[in-house]
Amino acid sequence: MAPNTTHGNNVFEQLHLFQALIDRVPSPIFYKDIHGCYLGCNKAFEDFLGIKQKELIGLSDVDIIKDRQKDPLHGMVDFNIPGCVGAGKYETSIRRPNGSERIVIIEEAPLTDMNGNFAGIVGVINDITDIRIAEKERIRVSKLESLGVLAGGIAHDFNNILTMILGNISLAKIYGGVNTEKLQRLLESAEQAITRAKDLTRQLLTFSKGGTPVKKVASIRDLLESTVAFVLAGTAINYEFDIAPDLSTVEVDENQISQAIGNIVLNAQQAMPNGGTVRIIAENITLANADGPLKKGDYVRISIRDQGIGIPEEYLDAIFDPYFTTKEKAGGLGLSICYSIIQRHQGHIGVESTLGVGTTFVIYLPAAQTEYREEKQTEKTMVMNGNGRILVMDDEETIRSIVGDILQYLGYTVDFAKDGEEAVDMYSSRPYDAVILDLTIPGGMGGKETIKHLRAIDPAVKAIVSSGYSNDPIMSDFAKYGFKDVIIKPYTIHEISNVLKSVIS
Ligand SMILES: Nc1ncnc2c1ncn2[C@@H]1O[C@H](COP(=O)(O)OP(=O)(O)OP(=O)(O)O)[C@@H](O)[C@H]1O
Ligand SMILES: [Mg+2]
Repeated sequence: MAPNTTHGNNVFEQLHLFQALIDRVPSPIFYKDIHGCYLGCNKAFEDFLGIKQKELIGLSDVDIIKDRQKDPLHGMVDFNIPGCVGAGKYETSIRRPNGSERIVIIEEAPLTDMNGNFAGIVGVINDITDIRIAEKERIRVSKLESLGVLAGGIAHDFNNILTMILGNISLAKIYGGVNTEKLQRLLESAEQAITRAKDLTRQLLTFSKGGTPVKKVASIRDLLESTVAFVLAGTAINYEFDIAPDLSTVEVDENQISQAIGNIVLNAQQAMPNGGTVRIIAENITLANADGPLKKGDYVRISIRDQGIGIPEEYLDAIFDPYFTTKEKAGGLGLSICYSIIQRHQGHIGVESTLGVGTTFVIYLPAAQTEYREEKQTEKTMVMNGNGRILVMDDEETIRSIVGDILQYLGYTVDFAKDGEEAVDMYSSRPYDAVILDLTIPGGMGGKETIKHLRAIDPAVKAIVSSGYSNDPIMSDFAKYGFKDVIIKPYTIHEISNVLKSVIS
């Protein structure tokens, strides 16, 4: 017999059935009239909010939520304005009777009567607290895993470098008095290892805020030629350049760009285990319109093409991700570093690849409007002697002493200050030909403040800002702050001698 829905007795039966039905649902369910007053709920709702259905009926959220200010559930009230027919889904938190705070997603849908008129709201509460906790846990674990890969890679490289330095120095001590030629070679080797350690920290810094490029007008030709030759020295890989004779200059952080190019060339070499040729093309390109991430304007486009194994299509999206690697014992950081460097130069890096044929990486760098002065580059490899009085401000005793030795060797007279106050005092009693200011002095006046005072005393002060960590805009924009030049620690005797020479002359 078909149930007679219009029969009075059956209404109670059906209500009972309805209640039994929703009581079986494990999530809290409620329904309200058009004024936002509760019409009923299920057993799970009673348990969740610690209120019996018979007490609930006729109440609104305002009545059941004691602490409205703190409890965002009262937001539901807004939804219940008469005539509102929308459906809603929102996240909020609810304090349970036992005091525990639960994160919930409340989903509400309009209820209509038999004539299709809006009659109220039905809602379900999903407690997602445990899912959220698990999610957080998973993110934490994956962060730690990433960090672990990174730390493992650094520790490995650093230990190798330190071994080289230590080994060379201990041998140097042994040979010291006996074989000066050998001593020279050992110390050079230790010096090279330190350069590698410096490069490694710089690579890591590109990922941190410290990676802000310290830009100077540079010749891409020189940069490409020296980097490629350096990376491919002693390998079975040939290389060819095709560089436009009128190639524009670029304003770049030479170390960073050289690192980016180096990483790509290294990948090219690794992709050609049986040898082959890397072709490097550099040309001027004008974009008449903005193209993807690139604004319209003049660019230098560098293409680096190999004849290697190629990259499978499904990997193309992933190769710039940190830690993505298909190589055994590789960190997978190379291309992500490239990407981050090129991006910080307002450029773009892209890739094209055909399996078994080869891969081409294409880099766009904004062209600079300034001419590049050739002489400076050749000077760089020479130690430049000089004379004059230099004030060195650094909080670290060891740095002051080694910089002092170097500058005296170069022919300068050196005085020291351990912080900005001391530097200002000394400068005001007698000006110096140049000052080298450390950017950060823990607990004292650093370079940024000091230069202001020095410029007040002597507007023509020749100051060089120095730091090991270039996250401060001062390092990339030193001139704006009144510095004449910048030097990044650790620096070689060549570098400091050239910076001083150019600042003083
Ligand atoms: N020229 C290329 N030819 C073929 N595959 C490449 C080339 N360049 C990159 N790849 C692929 O992209 C992946 C990521 O490159 P990336 O330089 O970021 O890391 P890696 O070379 O694996 O490790 P690391 O550079 O840290 O030593 C490589 O493992 C390789 O699969
Ligand atoms: Mg690589």
